[in-house]
Parts: sequence; C-alpha cells; structure tokens
Amino acid sequence: MSDIQLRNLVKSYGENVAVAGIDLHIQQGEFFSLLGPSGCGKSTTLRMIAGFIRPTSGQILIGSDDVTRLPPEKRDIGIVFQNYAIFPHMSVAENIAFGLKLRKKKPAEIDTAVAFALKQVGLMGYENRYQRQLSGGEQQRVALARVLVTHPRILLLDEPLSALDKALREEMKYWIKDLQKTLGITTVYVTHDQDEALTMSDRIGVMQKARIEQVGTPQEIYERPKTLFVTTFIGQSNVLNVTVKGREGDRLAIEFGGGTVLTRLPASDFAAGSAAKLVVRPENVIIGEAGTGLPATVVSETYQGALVRYRLTVSGQDVVAERQNQSHVARLSVGQTCAVSWDPERSEVLVA
Ligand SMILES: Nc1ncnc2c1ncn2[C@@H]1O[C@H](COP(=O)(O)OP(=O)(O)O)[C@@H](O)[C@H]1O
Ligand SMILES: [Mg+2]
Repeated sequence: MSDIQLRNLVKSYGENVAVAGIDLHIQQGEFFSLLGPSGCGKSTTLRMIAGFIRPTSGQILIGSDDVTRLPPEKRDIGIVFQNYAIFPHMSVAENIAFGLKLRKKKPAEIDTAVAFALKQVGLMGYENRYQRQLSGGEQQRVALARVLVTHPRILLLDEPLSALDKALREEMKYWIKDLQKTLGITTVYVTHDQDEALTMSDRIGVMQKARIEQVGTPQEIYERPKTLFVTTFIGQSNVLNVTVKGREGDRLAIEFGGGTVLTRLPASDFAAGSAAKLVVRPENVIIGEAGTGLPATVVSETYQGALVRYRLTVSGQDVVAERQNQSHVARLSVGQTCAVSWDPERSEVLVA
C-alpha cells in the first residue's frame, strides 16, 4: 500500500497555478525525489503534504487516512528546509529536545531520546554547542535530529543541501541516503540538482511548469526519458532534427546525416516522413574512422580530465561526443574527418 497518495492536487494563487493537478503514489520506505527547475512547484507540493499550504483542490492521503484538512502537527511528518532552521539561542541538545518538551515527555525520556538522535546523526559530544559553533553541515544534522527524535512516519526534505558547499554536499548526500535506508522512513526529497536526485532516490518525479512530466527510477529517467524536457534537464543530450522513415523490424529507421540510422522503437507511433527529434547522450556517441558511420568533422575539443569532449558537425548539425580519456585512445584534432555512430538501443526518437 502507498504511504503517501496525492490525488489531482492543485494549488493556485489567483491566476498563477503553482501546482496543476498532481497524481502520485509514494511507497512505504521509499526515497522519492521531486526534481525540477526553480519555480516548477516542488516546494508548494511538499508544503501541501506537510500541511503548511492548503490545496485549492485535490486530496492527500497518508496511509489510508485523508489528511487534506488536517493541520501539520496531526500529520506525523518531519520537515527539514534549506536554511537550517535551528534556534540560535538554544544548545544543540535543547534544539533536539524542543519537540519532545512540547509533547510533555518526561525529562529522563527526553535525555535518552536526544542522546539517541545525536548518535543517529553522528553528533555525539555536540550537546552543549550553539548554532554559531556549528558548520552548515552540522546544523543540517541537528535539524534532522530534531525531526527524527519525534519518530515521524514521513520525512520531508526541501533542498536541505543547497546552502552547503560542493564537497560537503557530496558527503551529505550519501550520508542522508544511508540514514534514510537504515531508518526505512518514507521520504520526499525536493531538489533542483539532478546529481542529488539520481544518486539518492529510489524514484524521481521530474517536474516542469506545475506538473510532473515523468516518474521513474533514476535509470529509467536517465535512459528512457519520455519528453525532450526530461532528456535535456537530466544530464546532457544531443537533440537532432531528423525525418522518420518507418519501422524496420524492432527498430525505427530514420533519415539523418545523408544516411539511415536505427533507433529504439518509440512508445508512440511516428508516421513515415514526419519530423522528429533524435536524442542521444554524448557518452553514447561512438567516434570511429571515416566510413564506419555517419560522416563527421571535428569542430572543437575540450579537455576535461577524465573525459574529452568533442563537438562535431554531422550534415550541418552539431553532435557532442564524450570519450573516456584513456591512454590507448588517440586524441582527435580539430578539422579531422571521422564518423559517428551509436547503439540503436542508446538513442531515442521524441516528438519534435
Ligand atoms: N505564496 C505565493 N503566492 C503566489 N505565488 C506563489 C506563492 N508561493 C509560490 N508561488 C509561485 O508558485 C510557483 C511554484 O513555486 P515553488 O513551489 O516555490 O517552486 P519551486 O520550489 O519548484 O522552486 C512559482 O511560480 C511561485 O512564484
Ligand atoms: Mg522550492
């Protein structure tokens, strides 16, 4: 059974529609990310689940309970925001104890729970520190401990890492994912960062313009994008203008670069002669000797350490290819003619 269900959830502010009808099932124990650009409605969705924003229409279920009209404190959720909202005038221990004191727990019980929560987030010995004595990452750990100590059924995280520097973000994303798996707590994670979403999530809902465009595992989202938006927002893709020729067995034949190339059969039908976009990721473009694929010319080379990135021109269109920088692979020079190809399974035709 789903732990969280959103049914045709809508939030409008006058003319402005922040969330335009979202349907979603999130499973018990799942790490689910809402990923999308700024302003697409991620935080509004999360705050409706938390109960801070009242939906214009639609329903929210937690377990089998309709919580749409319940206040936040009756929803059994914990939420952590981007700007670590910990109280500066309270010590770490007092911050974590805060929610338990409100619930009128006994002092001995509170002490045990606080010590346990500090252990969970790896901050033993930090009891008496204040906010000014903590790094950004430590503050987020305190914010998380403060939530976990109340044993919520659902954990909501709104860009919790975006105020941290890159190195700390890297470390914290693995740490949060591990903690979530250990606790088995159903988690909804909001981010605009594709790396975070791909690394941490069991499933991702990619949002654009107040809607969810695609829901899938990180691998499905990356390798089987359903829309041009998804394929360009997550990672990079070459998007080429092509003409569909027709089905050839279990492949689709398309006309491009003066030749015929094959792609995976798309989910929807394409009429012969129709214009379409062929998408292929730079790491899937294979560069070979002239004659081994579509004729191509090297336009530029960018050295990136582990990778070398080539911009090529193929029948007047730009194609970017990435290669591992390995000693046995000869570098190409600008102006050199060569050929490009790709595995049909690693390319996709989408509606133009
Ligand atoms: N209180 C509000 N009043 C009016 N518009 C709002 C309000 N809150 C959010 N919005 C609008 O709703 C849209 C979605 O916002 P938000 O959910 O914060 O996006 P995200 O978290 O994906 O960046 C944006 O266009 C934003 O300007
Ligand atoms: Mg937001």
